[in-house]
Amino acid sequence: MYNVESSAIVNMYAKTILFVFATLLPATIFGQSDAETWFKGGNFYQIYPRSFKDDNNDGIGDLKGIISKLEYLKDIGIDGVWLSPIYQSPMVDFGYDISDFTQIQPEYGTLEDFEELAENCKRLGVRLILDFVPNHTSDQHEWFIKSVNKEEGYENFYVWHPGKVNETTGERSPPSNWLSAFRYSAWEWNEKRQEYYLHQFAIQQPDLNYRNPEVLKKMNEVLIYWLEKGVSGFRIDTIPSLYEVAPDENGNLPDELPSGKCDDPDASCYLKHIYTYDQDETYDVVYEWRELLNKFHADNGGDQPILMTEAYSDLNHIVRYYGNGQRNGSQIPFNFHLLAKVNRNSKAADYKKLIEEFLQAVPSDCEANWVLGNHDQKRVASRLGEKRVDLYNILLKTLPGISITYAGEEIGMTDVIISWEDSVDPQALNTNETTYYAFSRDPARTPFQWDESKNAGFNRGNKTWLPISTNYKCVNVRTESTQPKSHLNVYKRLIKLRKEAGLGAASYESELFGEIYTYKRQNDSLKPIIVALNFGNSWTTIDVSARYGVSESLKVVTASTESQYEEGQIINGTRLTLPNDVGIVLTTV
Ligand code: NOJ
Repeated sequence: MYNVESSAIVNMYAKTILFVFATLLPATIFGQSDAETWFKGGNFYQIYPRSFKDDNNDGIGDLKGIISKLEYLKDIGIDGVWLSPIYQSPMVDFGYDISDFTQIQPEYGTLEDFEELAENCKRLGVRLILDFVPNHTSDQHEWFIKSVNKEEGYENFYVWHPGKVNETTGERSPPSNWLSAFRYSAWEWNEKRQEYYLHQFAIQQPDLNYRNPEVLKKMNEVLIYWLEKGVSGFRIDTIPSLYEVAPDENGNLPDELPSGKCDDPDASCYLKHIYTYDQDETYDVVYEWRELLNKFHADNGGDQPILMTEAYSDLNHIVRYYGNGQRNGSQIPFNFHLLAKVNRNSKAADYKKLIEEFLQAVPSDCEANWVLGNHDQKRVASRLGEKRVDLYNILLKTLPGISITYAGEEIGMTDVIISWEDSVDPQALNTNETTYYAFSRDPARTPFQWDESKNAGFNRGNKTWLPISTNYKCVNVRTESTQPKSHLNVYKRLIKLRKEAGLGAASYESELFGEIYTYKRQNDSLKPIIVALNFGNSWTTIDVSARYGVSESLKVVTASTESQYEEGQIINGTRLTLPNDVGIVLTTV
């Protein structure tokens, strides 16, 4: 039982009170149709196709599996679903190494399956977003093979360099000290061409050369190809690495300096990536892609297609993806500001600061977005605490703007520990038995947990490409759907609230009460919504009614399953008692 008596009234109002208005206003104010604004305040969901649902029981998720679960996405209230790559690929990096941008990987299905998926998404009103991987191809892509052979038109499709030659010994070495994100030199010698090529990721993922305009033309064709197939936008993979600094007049490339962030000279964190990341030319390409999408939309009607951009860069760089004042860019530059900076020791004040920094940085005609998990990170529950699953879902769904969920976070899936022998992630395999776990992305990529049947309902076969979590009998969609208090039901309630209340567009005002971060969201048509999140380690009682000027009696919209609160319960806002790790959403009666 929870011990309410031990709680103490905390009266520590933070000195500064920040008042930030979300810039988004209801679409009708601008007279814009839903087709223009559908993504605003949206609920986005990321599917890792290999792990979502396996229809043909070969152990690997597929498009038919996704089709069979679209009703689930509709039911929980998802507006847009982003699929990690489904294209033809040797699967060195599980689809992020593409050998044909216009074909479907056979183990995922066929182009007909894709068309069926797109039609079903349309019918249900769940917009389909594809991953777009412009930085590199697979080394099995015909462009790379032609480039190796210096076939006419393809000589400069990739970033080639003869390397440095030692004048005394005649020995050749890579042109610069640049490191791959997956460890070791970012340069690989190609025997046939007798040159090095750049690969910012695996050796089998050569970097395309965006200084060659033909490359951009080809990638524009890829975008048009999928837009014509009915997709509503793209998530652009690793956009900051699109360009590297150009060679000087002698053809030389500069070395990067140590970052001081880690002391492993083979790891990417060892260098400060000033010549290989965030180059100015990158933003112009994003603006060009946005213009291409806008033109497609103007010519063909339908929904305004969107761009989501993946960049683990600092805020100054992130905001440039939105646009530059003259040209628009990505509608959703992923906000990794929180994801990258919080850990189990973070304080309520850290959350408040990081959130408000982002809100203030967002240009006035754009929206914030909130993300804590994806297929490259450990699971939120394992990284930040299993008791806090609902607290984080409350946070992501009640802040101004767009929220993005990685499949499984809505039911509180946790990491599955995968041994070194069973690891398949190239980022892990590039390390060793002792250190691999810190780098492995396998733990967060295990099959989705649908029910308590064999293989968690992922398939009915005898194998799965990664093991199923041992907790699947409790943590799964079916079980959680039937429990009145479950992570899934809290999540669904939150989306319902967002839709009913236009929460994405409401104003935001906040206050810290010690380790409890609170905020109020309100717009003209909305009863005030008050959120309180206890990031501390003890039960605490606070007075939100006085602080936000609302009545004493408040109604619980939803609260962490860990808490004593029930949805619809009336509580006294002058003495709101919150257990540690618990979040609550309140409104006036
Ligand atoms: C980012 C993707 O999210 C990751 O999974 C992939 O390995 C790299 N980009 C390379 O494409």
